[in-house]
Amino acid sequence: CGIVGILGEHEVAPIILDALKRLEYRGYDSAGIATLHEGTLGRRRATGKLINLSDLLVEDPIRGKSGIGHTRWATHGAATVVNAHPHRTARVAVVHNGIIENFRALRQGLEEKGAVFETETDTETVAHLTEMGLRDGKTPLDAVKETLAQLEGAFALCFLFEGEEDLMIAARRGSPLAIGYGTGEMYVGSDALALAPLTHRISYLEEGDFAVLSRTSVQVYDADGAPVEREIRYVQAENSFAEKGNHKHFMAKEMHEQPSVMAYALNNYTTPDGLKVEISGVDLDFTRYDRVTMVACGTAYLAAHVAKYWFEQVARLPVEIEVASEFRYREPPIAPRTLAVFISQSGETADTLAALRYCRDKAETILSIINVPTSTIARESDHALPIFAGVEIGVASTKAFTCQLTVLAAVTLLAARQRGEIDSDREAELLAQLGTVPGAMVDALALEPQISSICWDLSKASDILFLGRGAMYPLALEGALKLKEISYIHAEGYASGELKHGPIALIDETVPVVVMAPTDALFEKSVSNMQEVMARGGKVLLISDAEGLASASDGIWKSLRMPKVDPFVAPILYALPAQLLAYHTATTKGTDVDQPRNLAKSVTVE
Ligand code: G6P
Repeated sequence: CGIVGILGEHEVAPIILDALKRLEYRGYDSAGIATLHEGTLGRRRATGKLINLSDLLVEDPIRGKSGIGHTRWATHGAATVVNAHPHRTARVAVVHNGIIENFRALRQGLEEKGAVFETETDTETVAHLTEMGLRDGKTPLDAVKETLAQLEGAFALCFLFEGEEDLMIAARRGSPLAIGYGTGEMYVGSDALALAPLTHRISYLEEGDFAVLSRTSVQVYDADGAPVEREIRYVQAENSFAEKGNHKHFMAKEMHEQPSVMAYALNNYTTPDGLKVEISGVDLDFTRYDRVTMVACGTAYLAAHVAKYWFEQVARLPVEIEVASEFRYREPPIAPRTLAVFISQSGETADTLAALRYCRDKAETILSIINVPTSTIARESDHALPIFAGVEIGVASTKAFTCQLTVLAAVTLLAARQRGEIDSDREAELLAQLGTVPGAMVDALALEPQISSICWDLSKASDILFLGRGAMYPLALEGALKLKEISYIHAEGYASGELKHGPIALIDETVPVVVMAPTDALFEKSVSNMQEVMARGGKVLLISDAEGLASASDGIWKSLRMPKVDPFVAPILYALPAQLLAYHTATTKGTDVDQPRNLAKSVTVE
């Protein structure tokens, strides 16, 4: 969820709405806004995308110069208007990101004292607890302090109080929160991006902090209630309002940007002559590490999965990979001389951040690979490597994935050179291979009309399998993930060799099987697996650069002839047909490609 708060000089509703647009990547199940006008709290809420709230505010405007807003990714309680934030009682309105874990017990206690709940949310408990404090004669600050002392879980909160036009209280435990300093105005936001058009002067609350804001002052207190100073930084956040240009969807635009953003990313990690990897300003010495642990979620995790193959094969460095939600609670021992790597487009994913914090004191070094340089994960790492993808709006990650891979490939070459696994000639050669990918991407994008015609058939399937071997196995997983995310068709990715151990039972003429098989050392083995599918009546779509694809692939349903690239870089290139297949299947079905149901661009609750 995303939260914003403004004590302003002007009517705040449109400004809050604008800030919420920048936070919509955190969820779009519902949105809401509460303001104070002449001391009285008012509220508007709507389900679904922000546009619904925006329409409601046109029909039924809300006045006031102090306000809070929220965009929700539902956890407790369905995505209804009643469950939408802000939540309120007579004198308190609150917005919340995170989860109050002990809310059931707290709610029961409050109900016993006569509180009447309207919603199924954990957040309403916070409003009632604070209201009880006010009723007992406490000041808003004391009531909030008492509330915070009773809450368990990870959260960020922002409060407004009836009759208090120049007061806002914000609190952070676990979930990040930024304070923005204006002139005669003050702001609270889930990230610096939300506040970008309002101010560049930002401070970040630390764990357990809470802050009392007026239009002219901010006082931060630490977890013990002692007044503290938090550094105010100048933050130049990127403009998150990209335009779609001629494209129908952001996802289409972002897929087509890949040749240029990948070239740009690569350029940022190489010497001007392009012969050597160079990571400026970062002192990474891979002779200091015996192993690497990579942690991420979703598509970023699949980038780690590809990187495992690269690091192990090229740099001979063992890599463990894990999804953040499992890693964080498994409490794995971290051996000495371990480099911990976190990959995140947004840099705000709650599970990835928690895993990073787990490694903080255990790993030698924390390296993150992020797209948003002002993000929490970037700020909490020893080294943060930007992927230079530019703003990514489509919920299904495309250009961020290929740029993550580009940076990971560069880091692989750096590690391999430092560990003496490759010489400078080999480094230059592999960099030259990476340099061919943007051009090959242009050719792969030219397959779009052909892919689109195949997707007419795919859109009628109810199950689709993706197969790949070696570093193409994570690509098969990515192809399946992309497809299910945006077309809602059930899809699974499998290691080609594992097919015979289970999923082959699913094969019949209704199940398309997408085989991703560049002509690498494992090509013949992939062809054999493909034969196993066809022998059982399966419909194979082969994506490969094999010469004479048509003859080599007798009996297959369809094929896509990919440009030829070195096997080392093939995983980056093959992301494109995977994305295009998902995109055209989804548009054929007419789903909401940029904001698919139930998903968020970045999940900031666990
Ligand atoms: C969500 C998105 C995915 C993304 C994942 C990780 O699930 O829908 O596309 O890969 O979060 O996000 P991050 O910002 O950490 O890369």
